[in-house]
Amino acid sequence: MQTAVITGANTGIGFATAQRLAAEGRTVVMACRNLEKGAAAQQELRRANPDAEVDLLSLDLSSLAHIRKFADELAERHPTVDVLVNNAGAAVARQSFTEDGFELQFGANYLGPFLLTHLLLPQLQVAAAESGDARIVHVSSIAHNMGRIAPGTFRGRGVYNTMAAYAQSKLGNLMFSNALARRLPTGLTTHTMHPGGVGSDFYRQFPGPLRRALLAILIPPERPAELIDELAFGDAYRTTSGDYVSVGRFAPVNPLSKSRDRQEQLYLTSCELAGVEPLEVLR
Ligand SMILES: NC(=O)c1ccc[n+]([C@@H]2O[C@H](COP(=O)([O-])OP(=O)(O)OC[C@H]3O[C@@H](n4cnc5c(N)ncnc54)[C@H](OP(=O)(O)O)[C@@H]3O)[C@@H](O)[C@H]2O)c1
Repeated sequence: MQTAVITGANTGIGFATAQRLAAEGRTVVMACRNLEKGAAAQQELRRANPDAEVDLLSLDLSSLAHIRKFADELAERHPTVDVLVNNAGAAVARQSFTEDGFELQFGANYLGPFLLTHLLLPQLQVAAAESGDARIVHVSSIAHNMGRIAPGTFRGRGVYNTMAAYAQSKLGNLMFSNALARRLPTGLTTHTMHPGGVGSDFYRQFPGPLRRALLAILIPPERPAELIDELAFGDAYRTTSGDYVSVGRFAPVNPLSKSRDRQEQLYLTSCELAGVEPLEVLR
């Protein structure tokens, strides 16, 4: 049975993806920062899919030490991982910081998943060696188009601009996927997606009336979950790597993300910040 690790699986897009994959008979590992919410979601999944294997582990992407602890625990419980879905993410209105002193959106939306992905490579490589098919899916955003990588802001901004910080973190997701695609062995791929404007807890910090108006027009989380499933298990994405796709047809890509030099620069800086050995470029 294939195993998929989904970050932020207790709600929104992550939960809809977990539901879908559990219903298909995959083993689902829910990586959640709030174990109380995670346990409630796990119960709901088990109620709907009594035969499904659904595990729950604590993961806080705003702490590099916690991510390492999660990876150790995961390696003990799941020596093979077929799919990693880097879904968890947030937009915060006021500047705050991770345990390691990074601006929260850079740290938790980008650098945390960057470290997590590196730490899970051994288990993903086991799956790739066994079945020739293991995959990493990054949930980015169309907002990455408004982003630029500004190293001077990684540890905070003089004047906080939520959107600039969020867009940088989502641009980082895409550029990481592209740099990673050059480094992964055959049989292990990486793709990035924009989920569409999705009615979820993501807009929790918006004022009530605006949030209610938005929720009425946004798409349900089941729509991006379908695309994530396709990227994670579908034949169409089995042999390609480094793709960027969207739930809608409109999928513009930030030209800044396409520069190999910029991707490599960000990759190497991120390795230093996260404390990982850079992977060798294979192609
Ligand atoms: N909704 C949209 O319109 C939209 C559009 C473009 C991209 N996206 C992206 O889609 C992804 C999923 O968003 P969503 O709409 O499903 O939002 P959501 O309902 O708010 O779910 C986000 C999930 O991420 C978790 N999370 C946030 N910060 C975390 C951290 N530091 N460590 C671990 N987990 C953390 C949340 O945990 P808690 O429940 O404990 O808070 C939650 O499980 C995000 O990456 C977001 O940037 C969303």
